[in-house]
Amino acid sequence: MSKPLSGKIALVTGGSRGIGAAIVRRLAHDGVAVAFTYAASAEKAEALAAEITAAGGAALAIQADSAAPDSVRMAVARTVGQFGRLDILVNNAGILLRGVVDEFSLDDFDRMVAVNVKPVFVATQAAVPHMGEGGRVITVGSVTADRSGFPGASVYSMTKGAVAALTRGLARDLGPRGITVNVIQPGPTETDMNADEQAQAMVRPLMTLGRLGKDAEIASLVAYLAGPEASFITGSALTIDGGYLA
Ligand SMILES: NC(=O)c1ccc[n+]([C@@H]2O[C@H](COP(=O)([O-])OP(=O)(O)OC[C@H]3O[C@@H](n4cnc5c(N)ncnc54)[C@H](OP(=O)(O)O)[C@@H]3O)[C@@H](O)[C@H]2O)c1
Repeated sequence: MSKPLSGKIALVTGGSRGIGAAIVRRLAHDGVAVAFTYAASAEKAEALAAEITAAGGAALAIQADSAAPDSVRMAVARTVGQFGRLDILVNNAGILLRGVVDEFSLDDFDRMVAVNVKPVFVATQAAVPHMGEGGRVITVGSVTADRSGFPGASVYSMTKGAVAALTRGLARDLGPRGITVNVIQPGPTETDMNADEQAQAMVRPLMTLGRLGKDAEIASLVAYLAGPEASFITGSALTIDGGYLA
């Protein structure tokens, strides 16, 4: 079996379920030692780490609420403590709280920023001192940065627009150190976040390929960006949406 990323060390936030779990699996499959965080899904996180270890890989599940900056910094420190350094940071953890403008509370607004935006900066700030030339920062944004699509997604879209802009700025900061920074922007993907059949039925007609994405398809773009063939890509937003924007 080819292991194109053999010897690399990664930290993935929100790796217990959905797209994050698929990224953890894919990176481990490609030879990466992977630490990953979770907030609530301890059982799923430990099962995933055990699955990777049983297959001969290296994994570490870390309980760390992305909304707490100290926990995010602790997750970076534990990753480096366990594996010695950090080559790939994947900012994946995110939440979707829906609501049209007149119903959306400011508490929910603050929560969305606290989970979807601030920890991308905090984790990057904590991670880069441990990264050398060739380091990778990859954030899971969303196609909603470019197209909200439906009512009730204004704040979510704003958070994903924010991480896209942050990515460009961080790419400028870190380019001179040989570290690339990119955001991937998935369209509707089959995960718990999108489990509701009503939501799926609404988006399906807009999907050029006639279906939602699969978590493993999103993970393959992350694996590509993490690898040596993506060495000249930085400051980019890569759409992976089954033609949702087409
Ligand atoms: N699904 C889609 O259609 C879609 C499309 C575009 C972009 N995205 C983005 O893709 C990323 C992953 O989404 P998903 O669909 O895989 O969602 P998901 O199935 O709901 O999984 C979310 C993951 O993030 C973790 N998480 C949530 N809040 C956290 C917190 N405060 N601290 C640490 N971890 C936290 C969860 O861990 P626990 O289980 O422990 O809470 C879980 O592992 C998100 O950034 C999302 O915005 C999703």
